[in-house]
Amino acid sequence: MAKSHSVWTSIRFWRQSAAWVTGFAVVLLILLTFDTMRQIKMGGKRVPAPTVINHHIDYKYSKKRGHEVPVIGKKELFFGKEWSPKEAAALLHKGKLTEQAKNCMDCHTLLGNGAYYAPDLTKAWLDPKWKDMQAMIGAKTREEAMAKFLQHPEMYPTHERRMPNLHITPEEAKALVAFLKHMSSIDTNGFPRGFSKTVKDFEAGGTYAH
Ligand code: HEC
Repeated sequence: MAKSHSVWTSIRFWRQSAAWVTGFAVVLLILLTFDTMRQIKMGGKRVPAPTVINHHIDYKYSKKRGHEVPVIGKKELFFGKEWSPKEAAALLHKGKLTEQAKNCMDCHTLLGNGAYYAPDLTKAWLDPKWKDMQAMIGAKTREEAMAKFLQHPEMYPTHERRMPNLHITPEEAKALVAFLKHMSSIDTNGFPRGFSKTVKDFEAGGTYAH
């Protein structure tokens, strides 16, 4: 007479369960990978297309989401012109290569990755200090002020720690500024936290702390 076993002690049951769980996890991971690709693709859900550099970018608190989100605004010239999709993509690519060649992440973080010696650069484009810097340098636009700073950071110190002169050419500086402007338009789920609050403190006369 066959002995009746409890299902919990059946090897067949555990083998089958393992196969089902593994199969389910594989399908889930594949779906999640596609979703991630959609979220991080340039021109996708969170990362705007390169031509976003032709637009005004703002960072506003969203009550619904409980943190700040980038707001892509009206068109504005960038370094005095409107960039075609091809030109904008090439400029951003050059910016990325320059960022890698000059190893900005040795000191800074980008989207939270890198070193903690200098401020995170994810929203550096939106830093209100560029207004003062514009006045100090006599630059007409924010992009011009940033490009000047990047070429001669030792001339415009704003923190106790100084950024060294990395011998960045005017063309490289332009590309880096585009790279940083594009980065500020990425929906990072509110990272860095409380950025606008520090901006408000700054505008009320406090110091801007990263
Ligand atoms: C050796 C360390 C170091 C490296 C490498 C470096 N930086 Fe910096 N950077 C600093 C420090 C320190 C500051 C803060 C000093 C200041 O603002 O005067 C700074 C400030 C900045 C700021 C101003 C940020 C803000 O909003 O206040 C920008 C933009 C910037 N760096 C971009 C870059 C880029 C782009 C690169 C790579 C091409 C780079 N840095 C490489 C140290 C570094």
